[in-house]
Amino acid sequence: MSNHCELIWVNGKFIPFKNATTHVMSHTLHYGSGVFEGIKCYKTELGPAIFKLDEHINRLYSSANIYKIKIPFYPDELIQACIDLVKKNNIESGYIRPIIYFGYDSLGVHPKKCPVNVSIAMFNWGAYLGKDALEKGISVTISPWRKFHSSSFPTVAKANGQYLNSLLAVQDAHEKGYDEALLLNQEGTIAEGAGQNIFLVKDNELFTNSEDSCILMGLTRDTIIDLAKDNNIPLNIGRLSLGQLFNANEAFFCGTASEITPICSVDGRLIGFGKPGETTRKLQNLYLDIIHGKEKLYNHWLTYI
Ligand SMILES: Cc1ncc(COP(=O)(O)O)c(C=O)c1O
Repeated sequence: MSNHCELIWVNGKFIPFKNATTHVMSHTLHYGSGVFEGIKCYKTELGPAIFKLDEHINRLYSSANIYKIKIPFYPDELIQACIDLVKKNNIESGYIRPIIYFGYDSLGVHPKKCPVNVSIAMFNWGAYLGKDALEKGISVTISPWRKFHSSSFPTVAKANGQYLNSLLAVQDAHEKGYDEALLLNQEGTIAEGAGQNIFLVKDNELFTNSEDSCILMGLTRDTIIDLAKDNNIPLNIGRLSLGQLFNANEAFFCGTASEITPICSVDGRLIGFGKPGETTRKLQNLYLDIIHGKEKLYNHWLTYI
């Protein structure tokens, strides 16, 4: 990726991108033993603003706690580091990637005394699935790889190694010519996309699943739940079947990187009319206004730089 920003924050210091290297024997490189976040910063009339920064940093600490990784900084310090990163890189919008990773001390699976490192990088990144995806919607395939069960991995943690499951699903989807993968859980109900939560719309009501469907508890999902309440859109939270998906009038993925991406078809079956639907578009427009600071009611979700 060449669209990285010049400065990276590593263990408390800003260093040039090219100097942010780590040893090949780092524990995380071998075992995926790290946790990370994906955060977005948007251009607003009042300058750059980071969306749900505190919430992302809180989830970073929760993920680390699950894996018993002691982050050698306070949350406030990482929040400030993200703010300073945007300032120092002098950038209006982009994607912020904090990662907590083990360096080298020993090769055993237990990280024991491996040092815990923290780095925060920033990228000029637009919509994850492309601008067209937001406008026109995407094609999705049901992954042959099921989402891991929460009894094997904590699905609520955003941990590096856990993403091998998503990687298999995305590779399969792309090889088959689809834009993105949808994973079922071990019980065969819908879990989530490779990097997104899912919502359905049926008869003007919203449907999404919950933790017991083995999903990451997305912050964009939380945002949509709040917006549904504020806009009197009935919301149902529970298990989602494939039948419900194929019968839905609309479906969309949501996530920090994917924002609100309409799903037009699944394995060649059209969802609704095969175009972004009315409710999806309404929520998408509202979301876009909020992240760009145009909806004052939701300004508390933005950290202005
Ligand atoms: C597996 C998975 N599910 C859901 C999401 C959506 O989470 P959020 O809205 O917090 O970005 C992501 C993105 O981080 C993800 O990787």
